[in-house]
Amino acid sequence: MRASLLHVSDLHAGTHEERPFDQALARLVEQLEPQLVVASGDLAHRGRRQELERAAELLRSLGPPVLAVPGNHDLPYTPARLVRPWAEFERIWETTEPTASAPGFHVVGLNSARPFRHQGGALSRAQLERAGERLAAAEEGALRVAVLHHHLIGAPWRAARKRPVSRRNRVLRALVDAGADLILAGHIHQAAVSERHEFEVVSDDARTAVVAIAPGLGQPRPRRLGEARGLHLHEVDGDAIVVRTFHWSRGDWTLGAERRFVR
Ligand SMILES: [Fe+2]
Ligand SMILES: [Fe+2]
Repeated sequence: MRASLLHVSDLHAGTHEERPFDQALARLVEQLEPQLVVASGDLAHRGRRQELERAAELLRSLGPPVLAVPGNHDLPYTPARLVRPWAEFERIWETTEPTASAPGFHVVGLNSARPFRHQGGALSRAQLERAGERLAAAEEGALRVAVLHHHLIGAPWRAARKRPVSRRNRVLRALVDAGADLILAGHIHQAAVSERHEFEVVSDDARTAVVAIAPGLGQPRPRRLGEARGLHLHEVDGDAIVVRTFHWSRGDWTLGAERRFVR
């Protein structure tokens, strides 16, 4: 069995939509048997305690260990946002910057959401430095994965304007230099998967990385165009990283694409 990691994003628990896809997640996990589940933020819709609890319950019911980082919608929409922005998230998940290891993977979560920004996100220099130390703790041969909420690459088209993580080029370079082989994010509710050479010229000795933005699980504004419902499965297959994209179609999770990247 190949080592694999299931990546979901933007659950937005608490919206009024019907959510048969939530129940179908359990079936998919049973079938794919990932070693780890990663959730890259916007677990809740308005940062409410019950929403965060519902999302955690769903994720933890799947079976494998779960690593979750917060997104902008996980901040409370109350004065607590400015005083204790992460109190509820930390109560449920202990930390906004978790680390998890599973066979084949070493995953480092980063909190890119900012209480004083509505949509935008950022990673501080200190967070990036620390990410390097945390990624260096990986076992030899393990795929080193960094997870944040805000995207670093864009989808082909999108109706609403959402900016990537602040100082995107610097963040990307810092994470790759810090050892990340795979960078996961969400926020735009559309899939975008690419290897570094596909979007920038780098020197021959520069490290490369695969960047994978997961589609959304929830769809808080059903009429908004340019959003997808889906998830990713990342597999390590010898010298390759295989990214499989599933979308929700006809009442089930359906494999739509498989991309293979040479490590
Ligand atoms: Fe979202
Ligand atoms: Fe978001």
